[in-house]
Amino acid sequence: MDDRDGRPGDIDSSGEGDGDGYFGERVAADYDASSAEMFAPEVVDPAVDVLARLAGGGAALELGIGTGRLALPLAARGVPVHGIDLSRAMVARLRAKPGGDAIGVTIGDFATTRVEGTFAVCYLVFNTIMNLTTQEAQVDCFRNAAAHLAPGGCFVIEVMVPELRKLPAGQRIVPWHTSATRWAYDSYDLATQAMSSHYVEVVDGRGSYRSIPFRYVWPAELDLMAQLAGLRLRERWGGWSGEAFTGESGRQVSVWEKPAGALR
Ligand SMILES: C[S@@+](CC[C@H](N)C(=O)[O-])C[C@H]1O[C@@H](n2cnc3c(N)ncnc32)[C@H](O)[C@@H]1O
Repeated sequence: MDDRDGRPGDIDSSGEGDGDGYFGERVAADYDASSAEMFAPEVVDPAVDVLARLAGGGAALELGIGTGRLALPLAARGVPVHGIDLSRAMVARLRAKPGGDAIGVTIGDFATTRVEGTFAVCYLVFNTIMNLTTQEAQVDCFRNAAAHLAPGGCFVIEVMVPELRKLPAGQRIVPWHTSATRWAYDSYDLATQAMSSHYVEVVDGRGSYRSIPFRYVWPAELDLMAQLAGLRLRERWGGWSGEAFTGESGRQVSVWEKPAGALR
C-alpha cells in the first residue's frame, strides 16, 4: 500500500463483488506490510492518545476497522472497542492478531449498519470517508455515527485535504508515484467530486492496472454533514498531535460533538 497520503494502494478492483468491497482477500493479505509506515508507533500513538482521551471511561466505535491498526492499541489501553467493516478478509486479519478476538466486529456498510449500545467516541480514519462515493452515503455515515453516540460523545474523521491545487488548468490527473515498475496517479472530476486512484504495475514484463473510486470532501462540507446529523465542530487539527489546521494542511483531523442535551 502506498501511504503517501493514506489512500489505499494496491487495490484490485476485481475485489469488487466478492462482498469485501475493494478490500478483498488479496488486498487484506498484504495490507499491513504494504502500509507499514501507517503502523509505525509515531503514527499510531498520537491517534490512539486522542481517541483514548475522547473515550474517557466510555467505549469506542471504529467505522472501517480493517485489520485493527488503531483498534488493537486502543483496546490495549483499556478502551472497549467495537468495529464495523464490509470486509471479512480484513477482519480475519484483525482476528488473527493478539487481542483481536476481544474486539467485537459487525460486518456491514458503516454508512447504515447499526450496532448495539452507545459510544463515547466514533472514529473513521485513514481517508476512509472517501470510500463512500456519493454525498448521500457520506451524509448517511454522519447520521449513523451520531446515532451511535451518547450525548457529549464525539465523531472523529481523519482525511486528506483534496489536492486540487496540484492540478494545472485544464488537467485532471495528479501523478504521485513513478518508478520503473510502478505508476500511480489520481484522476479528478471537479464537477462531481469523484476521484479515482489508479495503479499500473509491471511484473516480469507484464503490466496490470487497478483503480479504486473515491469521493473527495472539503472541511466545510463535512461540517455541514455534521450539522445535518446534529453534531457541531469541537476541534479541527492538521494532524493527530494537534497541529494547527491551515490553508497549507494536507490533512484534517476533525472532532464533532453530539450536544450534551441531545436526545439519543
Ligand atoms: C483504508 S482501510 C482502513 C482500515 C483501518 N481503519 C486503518 O486505519 O488501518 C479502509 C477499511 O474500510 C473498510 N470499508 C470501506 N468502505 C466501507 C463501507 N462502506 N462500510 C464498511 N467498511 C468499509 C474496508 O473494508 C477497509 O477495511
